[in-house]
Amino acid sequence: MICIQQVSKTFDQGRSFAVQEVDLEVGAGEFLVLLGESGCGKTTLLKMINRLVEPSRGRILVEERDVCRVDPVVLRRGIGYVFQGVGLFPHMTVAENVAVVPRLLNWEPSACRDRVDELLRLTGLSPRTHRDRKPHELSGGQRQRVGLARALAARPRIMLMDEPFGALDPMTRDGLQREFKRLQQTLNLTVVMVTHDMTEALLLADRIAVMKQGVLVGTGSPGQVLRNPSHPYIAALMETPRRQADQVESILRSGGEGK
Ligand SMILES: Nc1ncnc2c1ncn2[C@@H]1O[C@H](COP(=O)(O)OP(=O)(O)O)[C@@H](O)[C@H]1O
Ligand SMILES: [Mg+2]
Repeated sequence: MICIQQVSKTFDQGRSFAVQEVDLEVGAGEFLVLLGESGCGKTTLLKMINRLVEPSRGRILVEERDVCRVDPVVLRRGIGYVFQGVGLFPHMTVAENVAVVPRLLNWEPSACRDRVDELLRLTGLSPRTHRDRKPHELSGGQRQRVGLARALAARPRIMLMDEPFGALDPMTRDGLQREFKRLQQTLNLTVVMVTHDMTEALLLADRIAVMKQGVLVGTGSPGQVLRNPSHPYIAALMETPRRQADQVESILRSGGEGK
């Protein structure tokens, strides 16, 4: 579905590389999580898939077509994108935000309206209550749902998501994560999601790709990266969720009566 071949990106004529010689394939219907510390190149790699950033070297194929040879507007129609920090248009209503792409595609107004309501319900919002609100009249979780609805509007088969749940409180995040995972399975979406949260990666991913300083250090299923990491850096990253799980486990074993 997505095939990244020897892709590098430099913003300073080769003095440094934000992304360096990355090879990665994402299968149809796969949920791939790009995991790594802040600044390691996750967003840059993600944006090269829909050409918000042009690769300096290498090649990216989406559904067998070289993204650099496709009209970027056409390319982006088939790929939903959820921005880091949501990025809703503040002066537009929820309905207008969700309908941005359908309008660009010249859908009939009634088709836009129906699709907006369908998407709001799909992402857990009430059309009647929310469609005419402005983003500042929503909670963080609701804004994130609108961002999701907007990305899904033109029925993309691929979703690129940049830390979509990063700014939410833990309970809201947990709820939305689980709903989105269900949605991804129902719609059979191919997802590339960026996060620096190890637990989130473990809970959502079919496969985790770990990056460090622009380099892809390894990939594996959640079970593999926990039990049999292919690189010491991956093992080190997994220490935190592992320790937390052990602590929770030990509280449970002790019957919850202290440590
Ligand atoms: N438009 C840009 N111009 C110059 N440098 C950039 C640009 N975008 C990202 N970078 C640099 O590339 C590196 C990777 O950034 P980014 O992909 O945003 O990392 P991440 O998403 O993992 O936090 C960082 O050193 C960042 O400063
Ligand atoms: Mg980023």
